Amino acid sequence: PYVVTEACIRCKYMDCVEVCPVDCFYEGENMLVINPDECIDCGVCEPECPAEAILPDTEETAEKWLELNRTYAENWPNITRKKDPPPDADAFKGVPGKFEAYFK
Ligand code: SF4
Ligand code: F3S
Repeated sequence: PYVVTEACIRCKYMDCVEVCPVDCFYEGENMLVINPDECIDCGVCEPECPAEAILPDTEETAEKWLELNRTYAENWPNITRKKDPPPDADAFKGVPGKFEAYFK
């Protein structure tokens, strides 16, 4: 499956939710996650993310995000329509250390 990684945190552009054919995105306060058990591996969300936050879990940098995506997908509400991204989203694009500083 595909997973959402740290790059989403505080960017949360939500372009991804519009294209997912199985509506498997879940919304936290600062980021979204994918339910890896619902994702059908179609790959259409990956190029839609302006923050390049979505990766296949086979990529080295994405592997550690798999369990986090699975865990939070069970606790956060489903999201299927794009909302307004945070007004300061662009300021957090590509910023390192967002997980430690802002994940919740
Ligand atoms: Fe949805 Fe396809 Fe992305 Fe999986 S890879 S989250 S099914 S759009
Ligand atoms: Fe996050 Fe990218 Fe979607 S920033 S909300 S994974 S479009």
